[in-house]
Amino acid sequence: MAAIKAPPVDHNAALEFLLNRRSSHQLMGPGPGDEELALMLQVALRTPDFGHLHPYRFLAARGDGLERLGLAMQRAAKAAGKPEKIVARAPGMPQRAPLVIVVVATPRSDKIVPESDQLLCAACTVLMLQLAARSLGYGGIWRSGWMMYDQGFHRELGLVEREQIVGFLYLGTPAAADEEAPQPANPFDYLSWI
Ligand SMILES: Cc1cc2nc3c(=O)[nH]c(=O)nc-3n(C[C@H](O)[C@H](O)[C@H](O)COP(=O)(O)O)c2cc1C
Repeated sequence: MAAIKAPPVDHNAALEFLLNRRSSHQLMGPGPGDEELALMLQVALRTPDFGHLHPYRFLAARGDGLERLGLAMQRAAKAAGKPEKIVARAPGMPQRAPLVIVVVATPRSDKIVPESDQLLCAACTVLMLQLAARSLGYGGIWRSGWMMYDQGFHRELGLVEREQIVGFLYLGTPAAADEEAPQPANPFDYLSWI
């Protein structure tokens, strides 16, 4: 049987893109517009997905939504008894980017696909979104933090039982040039053969 090859891509450009990927900690406007967001979501929907269950959903905030998200974080911080410093800082957290996407895993019982597979799938959509944004010229950073695991914050966002947040993806225009991507001296240090 003839070998089946993946569709042709510009391998050098794709590899260079992946090898030099960086996160952007400092972000400013503009962030991705609706058409760009649609493309990014299309890319996210191409995440490897056992059973095509699409075990995720995305909550996006920009403009006033960032304010609402920050206030939800603050209410959750208060309810969780966090130190005053964290409560005071909460409203400003989402303001660090013009677009914040909260990625929610929505695992369900399935005879074939374990919930952990579904969680991993949802987590991979964060990276797919980040890579798609970067390919459109935007910077981003995948953040977590205590809110990710806080039931009160989950309720603030309307998450239902079993849903989990797998990341806060902050997106916008990088405010600083990328630092050079660190390359491991020997990538084989991370590999052993079975
Ligand atoms: C699940 C997950 C959670 C993360 N949470 C944070 C975070 O809360 N704050 C942060 O500064 N970086 C966080 N990071 C790391 C950044 O996204 C980023 O990878 C790191 O700053 C290294 O930069 P680089 O991607 O350019 O190598 C997280 C990464 C992952 C995968």
